[in-house]
Amino acid sequence: MAKKEILVTGGLGYIGSHTVVELIKNDYVPVIVDNLCNSKTEVLNRIETITGVRPEFIELDVRDEAALDKVFKAHHIFAVIHFAGLKSVGESVQKPDLYYDNNIGSSNVLLKVMKDNGVKNIVFSSSATVYGEPKRVPLYESDPIGETTNPYAETKVRIEYILKDLAKEDPSMNIAILRYFNPIGAHPSGLMGEDPRGIPNNLMPYVTQVAVGKLPQLQVFGNDYPTPDGTCIRDYIHVVDLAIGHVKTLIKLEEKPGLVIYNLGTGVGTSVLELINAFQKANNIKINYRIVGRRPGDVPENYANCDKALKEIGFKAQYNIVDCCRDSWNWQKKNPQGYND
Ligand code: NAD
Ligand code: WQD
Repeated sequence: MAKKEILVTGGLGYIGSHTVVELIKNDYVPVIVDNLCNSKTEVLNRIETITGVRPEFIELDVRDEAALDKVFKAHHIFAVIHFAGLKSVGESVQKPDLYYDNNIGSSNVLLKVMKDNGVKNIVFSSSATVYGEPKRVPLYESDPIGETTNPYAETKVRIEYILKDLAKEDPSMNIAILRYFNPIGAHPSGLMGEDPRGIPNNLMPYVTQVAVGKLPQLQVFGNDYPTPDGTCIRDYIHVVDLAIGHVKTLIKLEEKPGLVIYNLGTGVGTSVLELINAFQKANNIKINYRIVGRRPGDVPENYANCDKALKEIGFKAQYNIVDCCRDSWNWQKKNPQGYND
């Protein structure tokens, strides 16, 4: 049987690149499109070193309908995994129009081009952020979404609505909405990982940059939350687990399930201080940190119930927080300047 071609938008980014590796390992043929606004082509060399295969890459903006249509015409695409998007919460507050245009605009163009070319299968990168401030944890897929606190989150909610309406309009579509919790970690080879521009917003890249000496000190945002040690609790999931979750989702789409929604997390909550301690222990490195005030918009506790993904796609995270800390550090120390091409 011919191998299936999978269009991966944003496939040179952090989660996309790890997913491309798992796709190749599972005998799919990824076709990557990316506008390089938050990634580098050096990723292609790394993917080739890990898998022995250099995937096809077309530099384009997903909002460019004509360019995207050409890619669909030149391939026989079985499914699209739609990672392309901007993801900085802070930037989205400063530039909401950019986020609405890029994230929602690219999704609209993509769905139109899929329709024009008769492609019925899509996996969409949503986020735990769609749940807003949780009324209770763990979070279930059936919990209400909306009431978001920033434009980034709002784009994810609105794209989910667009996909849900599309599922009603066209029952032949197969749509998987994946709500990622907090992706961290890196490929165990140390060849691929997260390469944020400028000073990181997220906890793990901040920790690794302190560990490597690029940043002097980590600030822990608040220790007066109603949690056991006072710091916020999150569900950190290894990026390779997340990538494997996409392969399992593609297998599900072959059953033509219509619309499906899964949380992709571990089901385990870890506090900021627990993460710092795990990092120190796993890597035998001291992290210089101090407690400061709360960061506006942070919710005290956020972690997933993952029963649905286990039951329906056989997904269960294999890596624990110590594995995540080891692999994040392995990537950072081998690539102190990131991909740097
Ligand atoms: P990333 O920035 O590393 O990857 C996104 C990629 O999309 C980048 O390579 C970027 O250049 C590309 N891109 C952005 N806009 C584009 C456009 N209009 N056309 C073509 N390419 C475009 O981010 P990531 O962490 O890999 O996240 C992937 C997806 O998962 C995003 O949609 C993000 O919102 C979502 N997500 C990420 C997290 C997280 O914490 N990393 C959590 C939940 C959901
Ligand atoms: C985790 C914890 C911080 C940095 C964000 C997005 C979310 C999703 C994942 C895309 C919090 C604390 C952080 C630091 C700290 N992305 N922290 N010092 O906020 O849970 O989620 O990324 O969809 O939408 O909002 O992740 O890594 O920023 O923070 O103390 O320098 O670490 O306060 O408690 P967050 P994070």
